Amino acid sequence: MLNLSCSSKLRLLEGTLRRSLPDTLLVYGTVMTINQGNPAAQEVLVDSWPEFKVVLTRPRREVALDDSDLYTNTYTVYYRDIGAYRALLASAGAVNWGQSFRILGLQDGVYEVSKDVAESKGIKLEVLRYFTYFHPDPSSMPEIRSVLDPAMRLSSLDVSHTDLLNETWSFGGNEKSRKYLAILIRHFPSICLLDAAGHPVSWIASYPFGAMGPAYTLHEHRQRGYMAMLGNLLAKRLHALGYPSYGYVDVENYPMQRVQESQGFQCLQCITLPIPCQRHLP
Ligand SMILES: CC(C)(COP(=O)(O)OP(=O)(O)OC[C@H]1O[C@@H](n2cnc3c(N)ncnc32)[C@H](O)[C@@H]1OP(=O)(O)O)[C@@H](O)C(=O)NCCC(=O)NCCS
Repeated sequence: MLNLSCSSKLRLLEGTLRRSLPDTLLVYGTVMTINQGNPAAQEVLVDSWPEFKVVLTRPRREVALDDSDLYTNTYTVYYRDIGAYRALLASAGAVNWGQSFRILGLQDGVYEVSKDVAESKGIKLEVLRYFTYFHPDPSSMPEIRSVLDPAMRLSSLDVSHTDLLNETWSFGGNEKSRKYLAILIRHFPSICLLDAAGHPVSWIASYPFGAMGPAYTLHEHRQRGYMAMLGNLLAKRLHALGYPSYGYVDVENYPMQRVQESQGFQCLQCITLPIPCQRHLP
């Protein structure tokens, strides 16, 4: 296991991962944010270099201080060989099994292998399944016809909006999620629509692994085309910055799936988010 900290190797890795999009979406997005200043303090492990079979990204030790912080403690994985993933996960020091964490991966088998290795350590994993929506070329997305009331204006999210995002995000509502959302707002691209009084009515942010989200439109403003417009604009902005344009949507969230499809996003396989619940097996 190697911790890839050399900037030229990380740039080389970014280029290699780019050639295997969309399979590499999650680790590619993370490596890009690392190479662009690393605001979320993440690091990259590989099984070997320059030929690698597995890439795992994780929070650096100095930020993963809270054992129950599922948001900061987010890992992403891509592998070409499932055995290499199993070996890396089982090796000492790759994952801090004493913490709650999420592993985000797209490959078949990521849940099964993570679950096996976790169980061998007496930990039970949960899994959440999402559809991944990817747009191969956002520059070809339709130009959005403005759906705005003249009193409304487009802006970026501001840290003063953190509480609103925390109250409305389905994973939010606690102090750890609030801290995580403040980092997203401060460091990663976002777009929001402000009403005449300057309050956000619809917004979409982006994650340290390059995916778009969280996304939300206030109830009284729904089905007016706001999210389609914001998603379109953010996808183009991320694309212009060199990021892939993608997001993930709960398999039962039909409104958001419809929004993604209306903008030409392609539905890939399920993304899996195993979450250890820190319950030791009997
Ligand atoms: C999903 C959500 C963001 C959509 O926001 P919105 O501003 O209402 O979306 P839009 O008005 O841009 O809708 C775009 C498309 O989706 C369709 N749509 C939106 N809401 C819908 C609903 N409840 N039922 C069916 N279709 C819906 C629209 O009809 C439109 O389709 P069209 O282009 O074919 O007419 C909003 O419902 C929401 O905030 N939900 C809760 C949070 C959430 O699920 N966030 C996404 C997490 S991944």
